This record gives sequence, C-alpha cells and structure tokens, in this order.
Amino acid sequence: MAALVGRSTKQALLRAKPALSNQQATFVTLKSKTSKRVAWLLGSLAIGGGTVVAGALAQPTFASDLVLHPPKFPWSHNGPLQTLDHASIRRGYEVYKQVCAACHSMQYVCYRNLVNVIMTEDEAKAEAEEAMVEDGPNDVGDMFERPGKLSDHFPSPYKNEEQARAANNGALPPDLSYIVQARHGGEDYIFSLLTGYSDPPAGVKLMEGQHFNAYFPGGAIGMAQALYNEIIEYSDGTPATQSQLAKDVCVFLKWAGEPEHDSRKLYGMRALIILSFLLGVTYYMKRLKWSTVKTRKLAFKPPSYK
Ligand code: HEC
Repeated sequence: MAALVGRSTKQALLRAKPALSNQQATFVTLKSKTSKRVAWLLGSLAIGGGTVVAGALAQPTFASDLVLHPPKFPWSHNGPLQTLDHASIRRGYEVYKQVCAACHSMQYVCYRNLVNVIMTEDEAKAEAEEAMVEDGPNDVGDMFERPGKLSDHFPSPYKNEEQARAANNGALPPDLSYIVQARHGGEDYIFSLLTGYSDPPAGVKLMEGQHFNAYFPGGAIGMAQALYNEIIEYSDGTPATQSQLAKDVCVFLKWAGEPEHDSRKLYGMRALIILSFLLGVTYYMKRLKWSTVKTRKLAFKPPSYK
C-alpha cells in the first residue's frame, strides 16, 4: 500500500511543472526567514525592554527625588552672548541689603567688588562707611569698631554659627556669596524658592518655626517668606512687586558668585573668533606642507646589470 502511495505521489511530482514547484519552494523559505527575523526582533525587544524596566526598578527612590523642580526661566543673561543686567544687579543689592542681610552673610564679597559694576568708587566708599566693622587689636590689645573701607567684606549678621542657629530656630541661614552655584537649578531654584511659599497641603505637619515651600527639599524650610510686594522701595522707582524683588536678588546673587560672567562670555567669543580664523590658516598650511608629499609619484626603476 505504502509503495503504491509513494509511486503515485512520485509520478504526480514528476508531472508537476518545475517552475511552479520552485516558486513554491522559494516562497516557503522566504516566509520562514521573515518570521524568524520577526521572532528575533520581538525577542530582543522584550529582553532589552525587560532589562531597562528591571534597571529602573532596581534604582532606589530617595525622598529627595520627590521634590518639585523649578521651571526654567528666560533670564536675560541666559544666551551665550548675553550679559548680566546691571540695573537689576543694583536693585538686587538693595534687596539683599535691606531684606536678606538681616539673616544671611555674604562674607566672600567686598565693597570694592561693587565698584564699576553697580556703583562708582565714591558711592561704594560711602556704602562701606555705613557699615561698622570690627578691627583690631589696637595698641592695648582691644578690638574696636570702625567705619568700613572698600577692602572690607560685607558684614555678617551673626558672630558665629551658634548665634545664627539660636536666632533661627536651629536652622542655619547659609552664606549667600555662592548660593546660585551651590544649589541645583541655580537662579531658577532661588527664584522659585523665594516666590514659592504656600499653605502646607493636608497631611503635612510642620514643626514650630518651619514654613511650607514646595521647592525646598522636604518641603519644610526654616526661613519664613522674606519677599512681599512693596516690602522695600527701589531707588530707581521700579515697582517693587514680589517677583521683581526675587528676580533682582537672583541676578545679584548670580553676579556675586560669578563676577567674571560678562568678561568670560566676551573672552570666550573673542577666542572662538580668533581660533576659527586660525583653523582656516592651519588647514591651508597643512594642505600646503603636505602637497609635495601627496602629489609625489614613486616609480620603481629596476637596476640594470648591463
Ligand atoms: C529671618 C531670617 C531670614 C531672612 C530675612 C532671609 N532668610 Fe534665607 N534663610 C533663613 C534660614 C534660617 C535659612 C535656612 C533654612 C533651612 O535650612 O531650613 C535660609 C535659607 C535660605 C536659602 C537656602 C535654601 C536651601 O536650598 O538650602 C536661600 C537661597 C535663602 N535663604 C535666600 C534668601 C534670600 C535671597 C533672602 C532675601 C530676599 C533671604 N533668604 C532672607 C533665614 C532668612
């Protein structure tokens, strides 16, 4: 019986047109190759995706990750060629002096740094003389107070850390000289912090002397809201809204931590212009020096043994 079936199929196959069977054969192999590829692709995607998900899940979640990140603000000094707004630095200094200096020191900034940035030398001298600075010891070994000089640093509101903590419910107001550089988010963060106070949401318990600020890691900050509309008056008559005060003090703090900001951008641009010119010259010189080597033709002249 088997022999009969075998013989008849053989005959049928022999009778079939060779072209058709070839076609069928190619089609079949093609189909299986494609499905193999699809299977490989799906498999590797699943493995890759699984690895990514596993990697992400293996990361620990820190409480400090659950912080509201400040938005990016369009500061006028943001671009590669933009300088700091010096009128704004000047107003920001007024805000610092009249509001923040009550609690925050800026011990790395001197009065002489203000000269030709936001004031004339005479103005800065008068500014320094308003502050009383401890100096000494004198001939009998006592410390004494004298009016400030251009070379003096901004005076600190507290004598030491302990006094600062005691006056602020245990929280230490950080020195503001480099605060923009010292905080993730820079001036965007400081601005959001100063304008971001609100009532604590339901379920958030604050200790005495703490205030709720969504931008501060943890939410509970030891600094009360410092800026309100019209809390000071600007000498140039700019309306002193809360956001204006915050923006100006941020620009001032940005300058304090990075006084070389404007000249850095200027010299950077100059360097780029000169170097791009030099790049062209260098390229030309390279082509020139190599031209003899690159256009050289080597010919082998067989020695003649005549
Ligand atoms: C009444 C005192 C007081 C005044 C006024 C004040 N601060 Fe503070 N500030 C504090 C204290 C206290 C802290 C520490 C808060 C903490 O660690 O919980 C602080 C913290 C800060 C911080 C650091 C936040 C952080 O991320 O660690 C910044 C920035 C700051 N203040 C900016 C300012 C600016 C700008 C002004 C002026 C507009 C100002 N503060 C006015 C008391 C004050």
